Amino acid sequence: MEKDALHVIATRHSTRKFKPEMVEADLLDKVVEAGRRAPSGKSKNTNHFLVIRDAAVLDKLVNLVQSEFAKMEITPENEANIGGAIKLSKKGNYVFKYNAPVLIVVANKKDYGNNMADACAAMENMLLAANALDLGACWINQLRWLQDNPVLLDYLHELGMAEDEWVFASLSIGYPDMPDGLPNRNIVNIRGNEVTYIG
Ligand SMILES: Cc1cc2nc3c(=O)[nH]c(=O)nc-3n(C[C@H](O)[C@H](O)[C@H](O)COP(=O)(O)O)c2cc1C
Repeated sequence: MEKDALHVIATRHSTRKFKPEMVEADLLDKVVEAGRRAPSGKSKNTNHFLVIRDAAVLDKLVNLVQSEFAKMEITPENEANIGGAIKLSKKGNYVFKYNAPVLIVVANKKDYGNNMADACAAMENMLLAANALDLGACWINQLRWLQDNPVLLDYLHELGMAEDEWVFASLSIGYPDMPDGLPNRNIVNIRGNEVTYIG
């Protein structure tokens, strides 16, 4: 069990090429359930998972994200985070969620102190669950960069996000479009992430 869990952690990598097939409902439920079981500050459990499978909705989100980024200018302050997104959007070929058939949006209360931390705990659980289930997944940050954008907010409210919520992360998920159909599971050396033992 310990070996399995650590192996799933060590072999988790981002998938950015997906087959068009919809993810089987019971697999998707398992991933979402893993997100729901993540730790939460004071057990508030205020994450709100919008599991988007509707292709027309996904296309509309792709178009809105592209058109909103295209309206922005790259500045020294935003360049490192969204400079690439702005540049590609202005060219008109920006598909922020890649071609995944499912996007899980993680929203949380905008005025709750642990909103980002709770959303990220759920994200990592879902990434690990996806790997355990042979699904490909990738953390997708663009809706978080646009979390207070009025156009995106209007559409997300239409989809069921509450007025007092913002998006903190999202996850593209699907079957990996790889020759073996599996996610990349190379175990790589990690640079950075310094460790200091005291005692
Ligand atoms: C907070 C955060 C935001 C990320 N945003 C994106 C993103 O918007 N698009 C993307 O393709 N990958 C995104 N990633 C994935 C990272 O690029 C990826 O995890 C990292 O390069 C390590 O590669 P690996 O996941 O294959 O091990 C994000 C990861 C994190 C933790």
